Amino acid sequence: MQRCDIILQDGTVIDGTGATAQRADVAMEGGRILHVGDCSEIKADEVIDASGQVIAPGFIDVHTHDDWALLATPDMAFKVTQGVTSVVAGNCGISAAPFSAKGDLPAPFDVIPGISAGRFDTVEAYASAVTEARPAVNVRLLAGHSSLRASVMGADLERAATESEINAMRDALELALRQGAAGLSSGLDYPAALSAPMEEMIELAGVLKGHDRAVYTSHMRDESDTVIASVRETLETGQRSGARVVISHHKCAGKANFGKSVETLKLIDAARCGHEVALDVYPYVASSTSLIERFLPSAEDIKVIWSTPHPEQDGRMLNEIAADWGVSREMAVTRLQPAGAIYFDMDEGDLQRIMQHPAAMIGSDGLPGVDKPHPRLWGTFPRVLGRYVRELKLLELTQAIHKMTGLSATQFGMIDRGVVRAGCIADLVIFDPDQVADMADFDHPTRPSRGISHVMVNGALALADGQQTTTRAGAFLS
Ligand code: ZN
Ligand code: CU
Repeated sequence: MQRCDIILQDGTVIDGTGATAQRADVAMEGGRILHVGDCSEIKADEVIDASGQVIAPGFIDVHTHDDWALLATPDMAFKVTQGVTSVVAGNCGISAAPFSAKGDLPAPFDVIPGISAGRFDTVEAYASAVTEARPAVNVRLLAGHSSLRASVMGADLERAATESEINAMRDALELALRQGAAGLSSGLDYPAALSAPMEEMIELAGVLKGHDRAVYTSHMRDESDTVIASVRETLETGQRSGARVVISHHKCAGKANFGKSVETLKLIDAARCGHEVALDVYPYVASSTSLIERFLPSAEDIKVIWSTPHPEQDGRMLNEIAADWGVSREMAVTRLQPAGAIYFDMDEGDLQRIMQHPAAMIGSDGLPGVDKPHPRLWGTFPRVLGRYVRELKLLELTQAIHKMTGLSATQFGMIDRGVVRAGCIADLVIFDPDQVADMADFDHPTRPSRGISHVMVNGALALADGQQTTTRAGAFLS
């Protein structure tokens, strides 16, 4: 009789490709999937009963800022408890590598507390730090445009890069890709990159062309009043550079822009006829980032979640803080710097329309390292499965899983992951489709989700019977 390490018995397998569910067992051996189907002829060291539950590929969080959390809090509880087995880090232009800048830097470098402690000259150095930390989930790293800029230009970022600076960034990006980076990310909405013209991005994204799996992801120049122009710019950057494009956390922020996703998605569809374009989205109508005066017009309600000089204001609304101090909102923002906030700035209709788009993947954009984060950090994936699949029936379960696994692995060049198929790596999740739900909300943002029972990373159990194990089997994915 054939033997294997683990058999997941009698589950409903949703394989991540978007195909219909099938009743099956899944056998695993040596970190890979050995067989999907009837496994009664195989003897396993361990059998896990999956009856009444779904067996799916482990979720891939394509939009994270976990570069530093993977090293500082390698148990990654906020990801494992959601069924996430891999994260894409280095989004929005900020990555831990290549990042050789010294000293203080402008937003968004302040978005992650503790970022200054970990700057890695090369992707190779970051990969070794990951290997040493042994995080519970896998990581694929994007090289951040703002990190490249700061490495080459120092703190002098509020201008276009010169020809020789662009060449230095291109060399650093080329090396990063050869050392296993997934592509290039940008954060053109922030002071660190706002002055970079489209031409600078086209020249940099051009480096990706020589690397089949590489992708250009963009937190666009604006996500509010000029969101349509920003989508055009991003698509043009992809077309002219030849790079595949992923539009990050797509949204139309600010009341005046509600409904504009009809047009942005039309533009994306038109571009998709000739060029590969995808997007990511998180299931909330509030965003979160640095507290910046530029972003004030897009939201009436803004919750301050941290402030270095005024920690006593954490968790309070900006309007209340300004009223208490007898100053304008702008003045309050200046006094609170550096600070982070949650902006209640989106429309549910846009969110649903974007999530339903066939090229939309799920990415949390969660910001770890603060006491009261946006609940997306702990709740994104179960929220899609509970609220948007089971309750609102916005998506079929197979479709939602595809947006969290198969589609994501293809877009981010992850080999042998994101699908349940013999020969693929055993990154898997088992959950109860009738129970799965996010428990984190704006008042209790770090409550773990429910309904996820088992998580396997590279064939090892990271979560068993709903409890996190001490095994940390994640790896740097090149
Ligand atoms: Zn962003
Ligand atoms: Cu982001």
